[in-house]
Amino acid sequence: MNFFHWIHKSGRVSRLWSGMADVHTHLLPGVDDGFPTAEASLEALRRLAAMGVSSVCLTPHVMAERPENTAEHLRAAFEAFRPHAEETGIHLRLGAEYMLDEAFHTHRHDAGGLLVLGGRHLLIETSPLAPAEGLRETTYELMLDGYRPILAHPERYAWLDLSGCQRIKAHGCQLQLNLFSLAGAYGQQAARMATLYLKEGLYDFTGSDIHELSAYERSLTHLAPSAAQTHELTRLIANNHTLLG
Ligand SMILES: [Fe+2]
Repeated sequence: MNFFHWIHKSGRVSRLWSGMADVHTHLLPGVDDGFPTAEASLEALRRLAAMGVSSVCLTPHVMAERPENTAEHLRAAFEAFRPHAEETGIHLRLGAEYMLDEAFHTHRHDAGGLLVLGGRHLLIETSPLAPAEGLRETTYELMLDGYRPILAHPERYAWLDLSGCQRIKAHGCQLQLNLFSLAGAYGQQAARMATLYLKEGLYDFTGSDIHELSAYERSLTHLAPSAAQTHELTRLIANNHTLLG
C-alpha cells in the first residue's frame, strides 16, 4: 500500500492525525541528524499538513556531540526558518531534546536557559543502551527548579522494563511514546515495550520523532492500532496540545 492509498484507506489511523500536534520532531533544518535543508523540511511540513497535522514542536538534539546547539543558536535557526514555514499553515514551536550527558549540566546553567515546551515541560532522553545514571536525581532537581521533565521514547531503552518505567513515572517524570515504535520502526523489542507501556497507561504524550520523510511514510503504512490502542492514542494526542502554550 503506498502512502496515498494509506491516506484513503486507513480511516482509524488517519483520524488520529486530524488536528494533531506532533511534539517530537527533527524538522528544524540543518542543526542535527534530522532534516538537512529548509527545502526538505518544508516538503515534509507540507505533507504533514495534508495529513491533518496542525502543529509541530521542533525538538533538535542537544547533546555533547553537538556543542554548537546552544539555546541561542537554536533560537536563531528557528527564527530564520519560521517565516519560510508560514506557507504550510502549520504552527511551529521550538523546544529541544536534551540528552542527559555531561553537557546537559552546562546547558542547565547557560544564560540562554533551556528550551522548554509549554508549561515548562522539558523533553529529555538517555542512552538507549546504558542504564540512565543519575536520571532520578536529575529529574528531581529539574522539578525543584520548576521544570516538568518528559522522558522521550522509554520503549526504546534496552535497560528499562515495566517496573523501572513505573518507578520513573512515580518519581514525577512524564513519558512520551514514539508513535512508530508501535509499527516496529525500532525493532520487535521496542514494539513489545511500547505495546505494554501503552496498555498500562504509562504514556502522557506521543510524537513521531521524525528524522526523514520516507521513513515516516513507510512506518505510517505499518501502523495498525487496535481499538483500545486508538482510544489511548487519542488521549495522548489530545494531551499533546498542552505542550504548545
Ligand atoms: Fe528525537
